[in-house]
Amino acid sequence: MAPRQTQRDSEHAADGVYFGLMSGTSMDGVDGISVRFEKGQKPVVLAEAFVGFAAGLREALFSLQQPGENEIERASLAGNALAARYAVCCHELLRAGNVSPEEVRAIGAHGQTVRHRPEKGYTVQIQNPALLAELTRIDVIADFRSRDVASGGQGAPLVPAFHATVFGSRQETRVVCNLGGISNITILWNTGAVRGFDCGPANALLDLWAERYLGKPYDENGQFAARGTLHQPLLNVLLDEPFFAQQPPKSTGRDLFNAQWLDAKLKGFESLAPADVQATLVALTAVSIAREIERHAPDCRAVYVCGGGARNPVLMQALEKALETGGVAGVPVSTTDALGVPPHQVEPLAFAWLAMQCVAREPGNLATVTGAAGERVLGAIYPR
Ligand SMILES: Nc1ncnc2c1ncn2[C@@H]1O[C@H](COP(=O)(O)OP(=O)(O)O)[C@@H](O)[C@H]1O
Ligand SMILES: [Mg+2]
Repeated sequence: MAPRQTQRDSEHAADGVYFGLMSGTSMDGVDGISVRFEKGQKPVVLAEAFVGFAAGLREALFSLQQPGENEIERASLAGNALAARYAVCCHELLRAGNVSPEEVRAIGAHGQTVRHRPEKGYTVQIQNPALLAELTRIDVIADFRSRDVASGGQGAPLVPAFHATVFGSRQETRVVCNLGGISNITILWNTGAVRGFDCGPANALLDLWAERYLGKPYDENGQFAARGTLHQPLLNVLLDEPFFAQQPPKSTGRDLFNAQWLDAKLKGFESLAPADVQATLVALTAVSIAREIERHAPDCRAVYVCGGGARNPVLMQALEKALETGGVAGVPVSTTDALGVPPHQVEPLAFAWLAMQCVAREPGNLATVTGAAGERVLGAIYPR
């Protein structure tokens, strides 16, 4: 009996409380979660926290998206500033969940993507995990993407494996759609098969346009877009981007979908009202997702949306309409609330889960998603 006991112990060795910290391409701030994982049980959320980025940090992160002078120093300093914000988030998670640092097995900290070039063999998420470990006295796990890229994968998306464990269903084929700065989908077939990839720009461009014409960081509840009308010729030009036609595995970021990209596409459309452009960017987000669902998951029975875009009713309606006209009519679109997980918790939960996988020395990627040579243990550990 003793060997069996040993195996059971080792299976449960990674059980415990984990923090997940996600700050994505929207660069709005860091979403944090405190969660208890026990093998075979549903995750139990203990606390959540959001810490926004001040304008100065946002600007520093934006300027690091392109090559520039003295960028190594600027990236290092921005990494330090990020660690400070991440630490505030962790202290709030400790307080709100009433747990001590010793009780937390590890923090899964994504960092801030400043370059994503899997085709060149690298992806860079800046942060300072050593400083975060120093400030929290908790093990920090960082750099989740590099090992997948090293094994020939896209390094993204990494959330599908987690989606499969919490949202997979034997009853229906589902799509989980994350609307962050970039959109990505996970197709969860009722057979257990999983696929996932980035579809294109979401809030990254919506925020950019809102910032330019409203002077606000985002288009609250899609009101700006709602005042405009979709301009089909512009939409056609935007959709004429090779990335949309590319076969998965594929991933993207601000390396492609940025202000330069948009301004180049807008040549000849200068007379359009800003609200019409915003409405068209909403349609671009919706149509680029609907097309991928139609192409790769025509048997999909339901779409569940997560990420900040789930809070934009105009975007949600546009997605429903795009599916309707895109050949997968009648597929209901709801948020992951319908599956028991609030939309803003999904991504940070995924990084807490990835931290647990690393502690357990179990894979975090899916080769069918990223195109990696195989499943790999992801992340680098910075001990407390
Ligand atoms: N009430 C809202 N109305 C419209 N958009 C919203 C709302 N709340 C959040 N968002 C959008 O969600 C974005 C943040 O989404 P998030 O999932 O954190 O993305 P990321 O993972 O890229 O950081 C914001 O930048 C904004 O565009
Ligand atoms: Mg965010």
